Order: sequence, then structure tokens, then C-alpha cells
Amino acid sequence: MHFFSSLLLAASIVASAHARALETRQSPSVSSWMSAEEPIARSSIFRNIGSSGEFAKDADAGAVIASPSTDSPNYYYQWVRDEAITFKYLLNQYINGNSSLEPLLKQYVSESDKLQRTTNPSGSYQGAGIGEPKFNVDGTAFTGSWGRPQTDGPAIRATVLTKFATMLLDAGETSYVTTYLYDGQLPSNSVIKNDLEYVSHYWTTNGFDLWEEVSGQHFFNYMVQQRALTEGAELATRLGDTGAATYYNQQAAAIKAALPNFWSSSYGYLISTIGTSRDGLDCGTLLGVLHGNGARGFGVYEASSDEALVTLQAMVNSMTPLYSINSASGSPGVAIGRYPADVYNGVGTSQGNPWFICTFTVAELLYTAINQFAAAGQITVTSTTLSFFQQFLSSVTAGTYSSNSNTYATIVAGLKNYADSFIAVGQLHAANNGSLSEEFQRSSGYMVGARDLTWSYGSFLTTKAARDGATAF
Ligand SMILES: *[C@@H]1O[C@H](CO)[C@@H](O)[C@H](O)[C@H]1NC(C)=O
Ligand SMILES: *[C@@H]1O[C@H](CO)[C@@H](O)[C@H](O)[C@H]1NC(C)=O
Repeated sequence: MHFFSSLLLAASIVASAHARALETRQSPSVSSWMSAEEPIARSSIFRNIGSSGEFAKDADAGAVIASPSTDSPNYYYQWVRDEAITFKYLLNQYINGNSSLEPLLKQYVSESDKLQRTTNPSGSYQGAGIGEPKFNVDGTAFTGSWGRPQTDGPAIRATVLTKFATMLLDAGETSYVTTYLYDGQLPSNSVIKNDLEYVSHYWTTNGFDLWEEVSGQHFFNYMVQQRALTEGAELATRLGDTGAATYYNQQAAAIKAALPNFWSSSYGYLISTIGTSRDGLDCGTLLGVLHGNGARGFGVYEASSDEALVTLQAMVNSMTPLYSINSASGSPGVAIGRYPADVYNGVGTSQGNPWFICTFTVAELLYTAINQFAAAGQITVTSTTLSFFQQFLSSVTAGTYSSNSNTYATIVAGLKNYADSFIAVGQLHAANNGSLSEEFQRSSGYMVGARDLTWSYGSFLTTKAARDGATAF
């Protein structure tokens, strides 16, 4: 009897997920849902930024809370990585003409300076303290035990602020830049220079991954580090700090030379971390492809590269059987989690769930690849990517297809539909009012984990920009 009723209960949960799936699939379309979600996601980000944001009143000006959730889980902190990723989106809005964001960007500069100067369990100013991943919302040190250091945050922050500095220099604000952002001194009293000194001297040091779970050398970190140092070297050159520029370029070259170590020819995909027992498939690798290149591209495992595309497909193949929502009838596509062996359920540990960030990131990488194929005017199918492209055109063979060919058109249309199917999964499991938490439950599909996760909204927004063909920096 108990057995029977629990089966009935399980059946009714699955049935309601099905009903939701079918209802949501009929309307609205992915593109109209994305248009409706965009202003919701944008205002949800501003709600999480101190000190004027509705959910971040206690936070410093320019500090981004990861989520308003203060209990089960408590994400009411600022993380250097998440904050930099949020400001990367906002800086793109500024580049695209929202000049009202300049005061907020300068508050981020001040908050970053404050965090760098705060002595913390990783170390102190102008040294190892720059690698501290997490601070209290008022900028004081978080002194509990944690996965530290994390060497990716300073690199992403440097990339964002280097672009901002370049724009300010173009606008004639030289003294602001040379005072607060890049002073060219050692030891330095400016934010970018401290981040670049940290990254260039500590990139070989083991640190925790972006999910804060394993210590080692990570693809994601190397990708964002080589980008930060390459762009930082250009800024250093422009400001006459030529010795530093040479050193940053040398370290960037060393990172680029080490990146192929993450390609596993036996697995046929990029692994996330060297020297762990995991299989290496990880959403962080896809994020590294995106954050390590930007629209400008560095020719290092770009979204349209063979390695990125086959890694994406291996990730999808591995996630498909993992979550029962992926096989529910009416399921619009595949929900994607962080990595196959994940056991974090959003509050504690049991079984991992799909994440909005990871499901959207698969789509963002595909849209970015489409944009790169369009810019190149062609798609090249190789023996490595043949089966990937055959999903969209079973008769395709290895070769180069120009953008005016039918083969190209068929493949791009297939890629776009494929990318849209991941958005449809996010659409299905988002709240009706557009709210996005961290995760959605692997068998019921309902949202779980930290509510209103800033990065979920940011990920949605950058994915939409890529779908719209925008060239984010
Ligand atoms: C521009 O930035 C302001 C904050 O300065 C924000 O309130 C507004 O929503 C932004 N507008 C757009 C279209 O992004
Ligand atoms: C949207 O709905 C969620 C529950 O799904 C709720 O927690 C949140 O407060 C709502 N947001 C708004 C802005 O009404």
C-alpha cells in the first residue's frame, strides 16, 4: 500500500511537470519569452547591487550580492568572481550607450579597491590576499573556512576594469585611470595593477575551482587569466609601463602554451581540472571558452573551435540521462548541471540538479559559435566535428562551406534550433513572474536553491545578447 501510494505521488509530480511543459511550449515562443524576461532579469540584477538595490540595502555601494537568500543557503555575500561577471554585463550596457551606468562602475572600482586592501584569510594587500574569493557585504573579511584562494576572480575583474580604463582614457579621464585603476607603480595602489600582479605571479599556484570545491589547475582560470594578462599588457603599454607589459605578455604566453594540457585525446573533450578523479566534463569549461575570449577573440579555444563544440556535445550527452526531466514527455530539450558527479542540491548534499547558468551557457556558446561562423563567412567541418555537425545535416562531410551555400544555411538553422531548445528548458522551469533561482529540481523541474541568483540573470542576459548577434567585449 505504501509502495503503491508513493508511486501514485511520484506519478502525479511527473504529470504536473508534463502539463507545465506542454502548456509553456505552446506559447510564448522562445524569442518572445526572452524579450519579456530581459527587463525582469535586468531589474533583478539592480535589486542585488548595493546600496540602492532593494535586496542589497546593507551592502556597500558597488557591491553585488550573490542572492538575497540569507538562510538555506546563505548567499548574502559578495564574491569577487560573480561580482566581476555582473559588472562585465553592465560594462557591455555602458559600451552600448547606457552612460548613466558610469557612477555605478566607479563605485565598483572603489569597492574593489576596498576589498583588495582588506586583510583576509588568504593574505594581505599587494600579495596573496588578492586571491580571496568571498567578502561580507560591507567589505569586511569573511573569516569562516572556505575554498581559498581562487585565482579567477582577480583576472575577470582586471578584464572588466581594463576595458573601462581604456574607455576613460579615450574620453580624456587620464588622472582617474592613473590614480585608481593603473598607477604603474610597484608596489601598486591601484586596482588593475594589483590584480595583474597577482594573476601574473600566482597563476601556477593551486586554487579552488569556480564551484569552490576542488583545488588544482583549472581550464576556466587559465582562460580568464590569459585574457586578463593580454589585455592588461596593452593597457600597461599605453600608460608607459613597458617592463610590466613584457612580463604580463610572457605569462599570458606561458598560460596559452599550457592550455592544450586540458585537451584529452582519449576522452575527446576538454577536461576542467588537471589532477582530479572526476571525468572532467564541466560547465566551467564552457564558461571559460566564453569568458576567456569575448567577442574579440584570442584564438584560444573560441566558441566555434572544434574542441569547444565537441566538449559541449559531450557535456550534453552526459547530462541527458542524468535528470528525469530530460526524458519527460514534452520536454523541450536537455537541462544541464555543473558536472555529472555533482551532489550539491542547492542547500546541502544529496544529488545535483540542473542550473540555469549551465543550461543557458550551452545556448550562449552555440549562439556565439554561430556569430563567429557568420563573421568568418564559412563553417569548416573536420573529422573531429563531423558527428557534431551531422546532427543538423546527416549527409554533411568534412569540408569548408561558405555562408552562401545551402549546407551552411542548414547547419546554422539547426544550430540555432538546438541552442533555442536549451532556452526553452530554462523558460519551462523559470517562475511565471520571470524569477530565476540557482537550480531547478532534477525530477520535478521546480526551482530550488538560492532565489534570485544574480548570476542566473546575468547568464540569461548575455545569452540573449549572443542570440541577438551582439558583440559583447
Ligand atoms: C541603464 O542604467 C540604469 C542605471 O544607471 C538602469 O536603471 C537602466 O535600467 C539601464 N537601462 C537599460 C536599457 O539597460
Ligand atoms: C516571483 O515568484 C517567486 C516564486 O516563484 C517569488 O519568490 C518572488 O518574490 C516573485 N517575484 C516578484 C518580483 O514578484
